Amino acid sequence: MIEVSDLRKSYRVRLGRKTFDVDAVRGATFNVQKGEVLGLLGANGAGKTTTIRMLTTLIRPDGGSAVVADADLATEAAVVRQRIGYVSQGGCTQDNSTAREELILQARMFGISKAEARERATRALETFHLTDYADRRCKTYSGGQRRRVDIAMGLINEPKVLFLDEPTAGLDPAGRIDIQNEVKRLRAEGMTVLITTHYLEEADALCDRVAIVEQGRVVAEGTPDELKNEVAGDVVTLGLNGSTPAAEKIMTGAAYVTKLETTDDGLRLFVESGNRVLPTILHDLDDAGIVPDTIEVHRPSLDDVFLAKAGRSLTAA
Ligand SMILES: Nc1ncnc2c1ncn2[C@@H]1O[C@H](COP(=O)(O)OP(=O)(O)O)[C@@H](O)[C@H]1O
Ligand SMILES: [Mg+2]
Repeated sequence: MIEVSDLRKSYRVRLGRKTFDVDAVRGATFNVQKGEVLGLLGANGAGKTTTIRMLTTLIRPDGGSAVVADADLATEAAVVRQRIGYVSQGGCTQDNSTAREELILQARMFGISKAEARERATRALETFHLTDYADRRCKTYSGGQRRRVDIAMGLINEPKVLFLDEPTAGLDPAGRIDIQNEVKRLRAEGMTVLITTHYLEEADALCDRVAIVEQGRVVAEGTPDELKNEVAGDVVTLGLNGSTPAAEKIMTGAAYVTKLETTDDGLRLFVESGNRVLPTILHDLDDAGIVPDTIEVHRPSLDDVFLAKAGRSLTAA
């Protein structure tokens, strides 16, 4: 449903008298199958919004190509627009409009007749459990309610593909769960969704596949399970307080450590089997007079995948 090939975008930025280019997207390549929820997972500034804005025809790519809902992005932009729904980061409802007004207006902008627009709005309000507040101004809604209006607006033209840019960002936990449930419902109904997020648990819970974006590139792609399996083995996290440098020296030379990262207060060791090497780790540290404050062994999480692929922790970022 979406085929993206080597998509690129730079912004020219002026700072004082100097101008320079910010390479926001440096060759993004990925696909989204029909009925699939693909998550673009990345830190702030990774290029997620720029990617979505190109795929929704809002900005023109500098290079690369894409086919969206069977229409070519470069030569059939108007067709793409008819076939997609787009919910921007932060939403687009007006404070003083009601949900019903927003939905009707959105439908009218797609050229839908007045009567049909009213009907679609009523149906959308029911689907998104908004009927009770339908005629109240949007500024009186909770964050989750208001974001539900945004998503309902994105679906008013009955699109083949829905683009959701950080739909849960800025919401309280209840609002986030609320919106996640809406995405799960859409997924169950077979909607094709491209969603961006910087929440790992959200990508894990909502997405059939995840593309990890870092500095404008897709650095890894797969189902959450595939990605976790790619980061072979377990992760041992040691809290070391002051003895991190000494421990790092020992662990860097250890044959059982495949990869090593320093954390705020210790080390993160990538090993084949945490339970098996733990006694050896303790023994080797003990030989140097180092006793860890804390020890944790865990199976890879999506954050470990992110760390391994992007070179930094998304949670820490
Ligand atoms: N209109 C713009 N002008 C200049 N730089 C921009 C503009 N929009 C985004 N950028 C820069 O492009 C990079 C990617 O931004 P963005 O696509 O918004 O990332 P994300 O959505 O993943 O946080 C960032 O470095 C950002 O500062
Ligand atoms: Mg963004």
